[in-house]
Amino acid sequence: MSEPLKIAVVGLGRMGAVHALHVHELARDTQTCELAALADIDLEHARRFNAAIGRSVPLFASLEDLVKAGVCDAVVIVTPTENHREHAAQMIAAGFRVLLEKPLTGTLEADREFAAELDRGHPHALMLAFQRRFDEPLRYARQLMEAGAIGRVFKIYSALEDSNPAPNGYKSGGILSDMSVHNVDEILWLTGRTPSRALALGARIYSHALTTCQEDFDDALLYLWFGNDLVAQIQVGRNHVSGYRVETVIFGETGQIHVGHFDQKPFEIVVEAYGRRGSAKPLAHKTFAMRDYGRPLPEFVDRFGAAYKAELAAFIECCRTGAPFPVTHRDGVRAQEVIAAGMQATVGPEQSAPVAT
Ligand SMILES: NC(=O)c1ccc[n+]([C@@H]2O[C@H](COP(=O)([O-])OP(=O)(O)OC[C@H]3O[C@@H](n4cnc5c(N)ncnc54)[C@H](O)[C@@H]3O)[C@@H](O)[C@H]2O)c1
Repeated sequence: MSEPLKIAVVGLGRMGAVHALHVHELARDTQTCELAALADIDLEHARRFNAAIGRSVPLFASLEDLVKAGVCDAVVIVTPTENHREHAAQMIAAGFRVLLEKPLTGTLEADREFAAELDRGHPHALMLAFQRRFDEPLRYARQLMEAGAIGRVFKIYSALEDSNPAPNGYKSGGILSDMSVHNVDEILWLTGRTPSRALALGARIYSHALTTCQEDFDDALLYLWFGNDLVAQIQVGRNHVSGYRVETVIFGETGQIHVGHFDQKPFEIVVEAYGRRGSAKPLAHKTFAMRDYGRPLPEFVDRFGAAYKAELAAFIECCRTGAPFPVTHRDGVRAQEVIAAGMQATVGPEQSAPVAT
């Protein structure tokens, strides 16, 4: 394809406005795409976006109207999770390739059904938005790991903590399926392995009381065993009031790689690798400047703005060349299978043992 890819963005809320901005910028700077349409059940959200970029991109109040208009080649779907399956299926049936925000559907059962449908009829139609795979600091850590910088890896710790509860009205199927799906995919991608067993623990300890979004936990841990030579610990929460905490620590037999370290500097992400105790200099130390959009945006955009844009550029490239997507519905199912296993073995105070007093 030599013409720019005509892209429609469906859902112009917190995340959709960011994807639409990146389509607009890539159109301007690379001519590989065009922002051809915006669709939202609440047209005011789409109008607000048009006003913010000083454009009059055609607006549609429904997916049906968007399809009928025949104005796009591909679609970015950023509607609430409960609509993902219906909206993605509708757009794929209309002949479009789709970039769908995570999670695939929000439940394992629906993920499996939808993935089976896609495998039968449209195996290359859907790219799932796991932006961590396009994040420069994490890609650098993966390179260090694969180059053997810290020897055989036996443990990964991955934390993701919001500074606020999910917004009022936000619908989540649970903090693990909504939030830790990022960490789970990161770990499967870093290691190239799938765990054999999982266990979850959680509590509603603070921020659940500050929002109408009712989730099972506002603080949770997921523990994963990969046979008997690797473990992973995932920590997610919505209680880190000091700011967004995104940290990954990779433990190897000869050293450790640390990606990100919460210190109130959201636009500066440090990746460090250290050798065994006593080695004077770090094995590696690199600082990555995150993009400052110059205005208040959700904290996940401060940390992952460039990754979201790189993910979109990869989607555009695959659509233009006809190549398969690097991340698909199968990755979404795999991550949700891990989480569902953990949820089957959730431990709360009832399963714990009393402490003698
Ligand atoms: N990858 C990430 O880091 C990340 C971050 C935040 C959100 N997300 C995902 O993005 C999705 C959207 O989350 P959000 O926080 O932007 O939600 P949001 O509520 O802010 O935005 C959703 C938008 O979709 C619109 N919408 C709702 N129903 C619609 C319909 N039937 N047709 C058309 N438009 C409709 C709403 O009017 C709204 O503008 C969720 O699935 C969430 O998991 C991903």
